[in-house]
Amino acid sequence: MRVAVLNGPNLNLLGTREPHVYGTETLADIERAVRDRATASTVGIDWFQTNHEGQFVDQVQALKGRADGAVINAAAFTHTSWAIRDALLAVQVPFVEVHLSNVFAREPARRQSLLADLAVGVVAGFGARSYVLGLDGLVAHLRSRAG
Ligand code: DQA
Repeated sequence: MRVAVLNGPNLNLLGTREPHVYGTETLADIERAVRDRATASTVGIDWFQTNHEGQFVDQVQALKGRADGAVINAAAFTHTSWAIRDALLAVQVPFVEVHLSNVFAREPARRQSLLADLAVGVVAGFGARSYVLGLDGLVAHLRSRAG
């Protein structure tokens, strides 16, 4: 089983970026934790981060035939990007939306996601752990579907 993890804008700054909101772990720390969990679950990981909406769309389009599912933190694009929503609708690859912060407890604009209704599920508010929890949920979903 292969899972892609797609990270949106400013997540490359984790560790120093608003640590009171996003924690002190870097994206590299999170990648390590996700890869460790994936190895234990015999899952392969493809890891991406971009600050550019078009590149994010390209990564979503590339999921087709390459990944069984995806863990997606589209960051600010979550709340704004019809292009990413359309790409997810086009590829029909199961994904879990994750956020470090509890977006539902933040500004009204962050409580809205253009992606969440397409997702298998959403994990928000557990810091870096949201990614591992999202991976676990996605893998359980894919395995139960595979029968
Ligand atoms: C985020 C929440 C978004 O609202 C924000 O724009 C981010 C990070 C999170 O992981 O908590 O960049 O996706």
